[in-house]
Amino acid sequence: MMRQKLITAICISILLSLGNDIVAQSNNKVMNEMYRPQVHFSPKEHWINDPNGMVYYKGTYHLFFQYHPYSSVWGPMHWGHATSKDLIHWEPQPIAIYPDSLGTIFSGSAVVDKNNTSGFGKNGQPPLVAIFTQHDTIGEKAGRNNFQNQSIAYSIDNGKTWIKYAANPVVKNPGFRDFRDPKVMWYEPQRKWIMSLAVKDNITFYSSPDLKNWTRESDFGEGRGAHGGGWECPDLFVVDDNGKQRWVLLVNLNPGGPNIGSGTQYFVGNFDGKTFTSDQKDTHWLDYGPDNYAGVTWSNTGKRKILIGWMANWVYANQVPTDKWKNAMTIPRELKLKHVGKDIFLTSEPVAELNAIEKKPVLLNNEMVDKEMDLSKKIGKIILPLRLDISFKKTNYFTLELSNETGEKLLIGYDKKTNQYFIDRTASGKVDFQNGFAAKHMAPRLTDNATINISIIADESSVELFADDGLTLMTEIFFPAKPYNQIHLLSDEKVLITKLRYAALKGIW
Ligand code: FRU
Repeated sequence: MMRQKLITAICISILLSLGNDIVAQSNNKVMNEMYRPQVHFSPKEHWINDPNGMVYYKGTYHLFFQYHPYSSVWGPMHWGHATSKDLIHWEPQPIAIYPDSLGTIFSGSAVVDKNNTSGFGKNGQPPLVAIFTQHDTIGEKAGRNNFQNQSIAYSIDNGKTWIKYAANPVVKNPGFRDFRDPKVMWYEPQRKWIMSLAVKDNITFYSSPDLKNWTRESDFGEGRGAHGGGWECPDLFVVDDNGKQRWVLLVNLNPGGPNIGSGTQYFVGNFDGKTFTSDQKDTHWLDYGPDNYAGVTWSNTGKRKILIGWMANWVYANQVPTDKWKNAMTIPRELKLKHVGKDIFLTSEPVAELNAIEKKPVLLNNEMVDKEMDLSKKIGKIILPLRLDISFKKTNYFTLELSNETGEKLLIGYDKKTNQYFIDRTASGKVDFQNGFAAKHMAPRLTDNATINISIIADESSVELFADDGLTLMTEIFFPAKPYNQIHLLSDEKVLITKLRYAALKGIW
């Protein structure tokens, strides 16, 4: 009897340890599914869209986001949460803000209320305050026009848990079906808070002494920029321009983007605490690729301006061929200003923190390519995720082709005839989930420098092109049957690569 008990106990412990192994294995595999981004934030499971409430506090970058915790398609929105010490490695956190009787939780922002203007602080600790739209689905279905209102919540445990303000909403809807996405900043000259709010296809600015009582100040947008769709997710902030302060207003719009569907435009100008003005004549786009939307910046990062975007497009975000989770964020990007002729452009470059996950780089200098070169022969088979930096001298045309053994390919290039960069994902892999996904997208080159510099960050299912030190950007997603592992350079003439630097990237999970 004793012997039998012993044998049973041993069997159980072997089974248990096997079980543990299986759990351990599947945990390791959890963020390793087909198409799973390896250096970009994506949720373990279910749907995400806009980044929300990004705030830097006590050495931690908080990323909240539009999240549907029960499904892989858009639905009742919550604020999901992840944190990072370096903007690259992300720790999933419990859901931060849940829907309530005022509605689901749409996009918004978060600030550190250093002076405790809200009175939510405790024991000398300033509160974090989140400002977001509550979307009342019942009111919407009933045909009312005031179903989007702005509410606030605060955290006195460094962003872990959030308490909704008892007197919500703090900005009541005067009757606009589109009235959302509050982005709040502190305006030091007049010691008050400024909220930028998307209202139909305009931005309305509000001000407040305490984040609870808001006064309408002005509107911006009529006759300005692109109006091919509704304006959403604005952001107003200061960027240093050689010691001079310039104001930038980011405005997301959907549809009406530069290539298809969702896009982000910006205005460089001035803000006096009441009104935003800009002399900018043309529409300026933050990113010409289809897959960088709803991007806004972190608050409380001092002079450094860091943006992250949703790496998707409303045209097909619900249909992309990942079942367990849907959608990811871009690589965080540092924003700066650059003068080109009479224009001032916003440049975006991958945050320097990305360098820390580079494996040993491979360098190539002064390589003349006569119409075609299998670069894998020079730098070895490429492995995603990767970063590739290339400089070309006086080139009229080039195509960089990332491909796999099954013949699927993504083309990234430049054509002097039209002076445009392009990304062509027509034959990139699975494209049939939405008409129009298979396309070639174009983006203008904005400088006439003789040298073309491009940086590419390619992950399992995305590519981000930063051309001319971040002047022209293209972000695109794709879904190949197997990860790309080959790289060719093609042209219709001789092309001189002056410098090439290739680094595989370590996965972040
Ligand atoms: C932008 C957006 C926002 C809204 C949120 C809803 O992508 O439509 O305007 O707050 O998504 O999830």
